[in-house]
Amino acid sequence: MQEKILDFLKRKQDYISGDQIAGRLGISRQALWKHIRELKNSGYDIVAVPHLGYRLLSNPDRLFAFEVTRDLGTKFVGRRIYYFDGVSSTMNTAMQLGIKGVPEGTLVLAEYQTKGRGRLGRGWFSPKYKGIYLSLILKPKISPLEASILTLLTAISICEAVKGVAGLDTQIKWPNDIFLHHKKLGGILTELNAEMDEVNFVIIGIGLNVNNDKKTLVGGATSLKEQRKENINRISLLQEILRRIEANYLSFKERGACPVVEKWREYNITLGRRVKVYCHREHIEGEAVDIDMDGGLLVRTDSGVTQKVMAGDVVHCK
Ligand code: BTN
Repeated sequence: MQEKILDFLKRKQDYISGDQIAGRLGISRQALWKHIRELKNSGYDIVAVPHLGYRLLSNPDRLFAFEVTRDLGTKFVGRRIYYFDGVSSTMNTAMQLGIKGVPEGTLVLAEYQTKGRGRLGRGWFSPKYKGIYLSLILKPKISPLEASILTLLTAISICEAVKGVAGLDTQIKWPNDIFLHHKKLGGILTELNAEMDEVNFVIIGIGLNVNNDKKTLVGGATSLKEQRKENINRISLLQEILRRIEANYLSFKERGACPVVEKWREYNITLGRRVKVYCHREHIEGEAVDIDMDGGLLVRTDSGVTQKVMAGDVVHCK
């Protein structure tokens, strides 16, 4: 009901009489008033003026599920959302939901995480109401070996969305770090539930620093706010990320990995550079010459041998 009331208020962008809303929704004026009070408690700034009615002045900066699905326009990505104020990690929640068999495109969103996970056993700092922390469930018919392509696909989708909404050019450091002005803006963590030869579902985890203040950013990180000097609308950005993921995912299903890899090459800052790739306790050093159709990084070492790396930490040498 609250969604419907908000819909009236948002569409009107002016005062609308309580009688009109209550009449159209088939509820009493008193019930309407209670819902309005709830909405105000959730942070919606709604004024009530005698003889004029209600008017919505501003929305809270929250990623409420109905705000995200409103005008989203996707077919399945983000059509079902599990929204939490706080969770340990959206990855854990998504894994439980995936096992229960929720539909493809189901999204887990949180305003903060107490145990946000990064790649290679690292943590992901997830302060409240500042970033975008999500896990998306996809069910592609692929083998576990092909799953890396979804990480690349997600990385390019984020770059496209940031450009579209914030007007900023971001780059990708192999495999999935999103960089802005040489600092890390976001990352992607992909986890699988799979059999030996077939994926049951994939969880794409995205962490993005959006409205973090400069002084709270540590260890070579940046946020969109640091660069733009103003807050970015997290809902618009999230919606665009979801739209871009769906479009790129559908293209991948129809046309294969090639268009994804081509786009990835355009955004990357790793290819052509001298790199050290740390995987387990070893490292490979050489020139990053290309990526494969399955997302693996091809490194030509000084001995002239080209080695393929599927996972690891890349350091760009000077
Ligand atoms: C990385 O760059 O190391 C990947 C970071 C991924 C962080 C996101 S935040 C939402 C989702 N939940 C998590 O616990 N991790 C991912």
